[in-house]
Amino acid sequence: MVHMRRLLRVKGDVLCSMLLLLLFCLLFYARQVALMFLQNLYLPALKLTDPKLDTHKPQTKTKTPQAKSKIQVKAKGKSKSRRKNAAKPTRPALATLPPFDFEGYLKAKDNRNFSLLIDQPDKCYIDGQIAPYLLIAVKSVAADFDKRQVVRRTWGREGSFPNGVTIRTVFLLGVPRNQSALPLWDRLLEYESQSFKDILLWDFEDTFFNLTLKETHFLTWVNSSCAHIKFIFKGDADVFVNIENILELLAGQEPEEDLFVGDIIVKARPIRRRSSKYFVPEFVYGGSLYPSYAGGGGFVMSGYTARRLSSACQQVELFPIDDVFLGMCLQQIGLKPLRHQGFRTFGIPRPSAAPHLQTFDPCFYRELMVVHSLSVPQIWLMWNLLHDPKVSCHNRARVTSKPFSWKFDNRLETKGQSTADTDYRDTQVFLTY
Ligand SMILES: *[C@@H]1O[C@H](CO)[C@@H](O)[C@H](O)[C@H]1NC(C)=O
Ligand SMILES: *[C@@H]1O[C@H](CO)[C@@H](O)[C@H](O)[C@H]1NC(C)=O
Ligand SMILES: *[C@@H]1O[C@H](CO)[C@@H](O)[C@H](O)[C@H]1NC(C)=O
Ligand SMILES: *[C@@H]1O[C@H](CO)[C@@H](O)[C@H](O)[C@H]1NC(C)=O
Repeated sequence: MVHMRRLLRVKGDVLCSMLLLLLFCLLFYARQVALMFLQNLYLPALKLTDPKLDTHKPQTKTKTPQAKSKIQVKAKGKSKSRRKNAAKPTRPALATLPPFDFEGYLKAKDNRNFSLLIDQPDKCYIDGQIAPYLLIAVKSVAADFDKRQVVRRTWGREGSFPNGVTIRTVFLLGVPRNQSALPLWDRLLEYESQSFKDILLWDFEDTFFNLTLKETHFLTWVNSSCAHIKFIFKGDADVFVNIENILELLAGQEPEEDLFVGDIIVKARPIRRRSSKYFVPEFVYGGSLYPSYAGGGGFVMSGYTARRLSSACQQVELFPIDDVFLGMCLQQIGLKPLRHQGFRTFGIPRPSAAPHLQTFDPCFYRELMVVHSLSVPQIWLMWNLLHDPKVSCHNRARVTSKPFSWKFDNRLETKGQSTADTDYRDTQVFLTY
């Protein structure tokens, strides 16, 4: 009996220790959660994509090769998990950059007219008159010849396609800031322009904070040199774009009506944390929320909207973040940008829902519109897999039994307060691969 009681007491001690340990773990967890919550509260995400992976921004060139090799699906929806991701302090490399001179920016921002050094005046005329159906405009920098080349050979290919669809492509460039990094850069662009007739070069420095100038100058160019274009896709060079899906999205749309579709970010708050790449002080933007804007990667608009934006953007004061600036122009013309329902599929929270994204699965890409942060070989491989008749999806029967559709009317929803966080759900279709 005594023996039994002693045994019980020992057991009780062990149980007690375990309970204490559990309590400790709970406390620790609660602290982490509280920290995360506070971070979200005070360091709201402007960009919903992980800033580490914004390869197209000139200042992130120093990031690790591992980050680059991972395939990232562009966020097309808002989710709490993504907010957390974006709010995490990252990019140690950027911490060493000199702070951005906002005072200088404000002083210089009336200087917003720069000349076109390389033009493509014939870009939007086919046989002297018929305007192309789709203009693909890709932001690029002089040194990224390889990226331009792979875009030219894959999703940015110019030509005539079924149903009278004609596609033309231009690359938007400024003057490199560090010209000793690429000697004879101007000759390179001249030769490229001669060979491919797709270079637009303006006389401003090609920096991250001058991307807004790229936006306004491109729109002005469209207004004057490509006025009859029906639709425009504008995006980055390190994305994979499924142009067939974009064309399907546009089918039946009216080019002479307003249309602006993309990865629309609503109710984003300006970042007031100095260490962020997207830091904006109050004296530059005093509001507490940005207008709705299309996140990087890419968006689609009608020619009519582009022309309207070109004059609206002249009225809007320059703002150093180009996506947000365009959102301000949209606000100026009173146009609500639309988030395509199909774009939600890009918002799959990683990695739990889609760990297979590490592999090239053409069936997956077949249903996407824009995939973000791909390397040059990845873009090339993906495009070829997608267009290879020998590659078939291993569970094709399942897929085709419920065909994927980009039907516009019932999948397109108007942006609004309610869509910000509520309609986010994992899309089952991708979990099956
Ligand atoms: C920019 O140039 C256009 C035409 O060249 C002119 O109409 C406009 O006033 C200029 N704007 C500024 C701010 O200099
Ligand atoms: C410009 O590029 C050269 C060559 O890559 C490099 O050595 C130099 O440090 C760069 N200068 C600046 C100011 O970044
Ligand atoms: C933008 O380009 C202009 C003209 O080259 C240059 O003076 C200015 O410093 C650039 N601004 C930024 C923020 O890089
Ligand atoms: C756009 O083009 C129209 C017609 O050519 C012209 O009247 C208008 O001033 C242009 N707008 C801008 C912002 O350049």
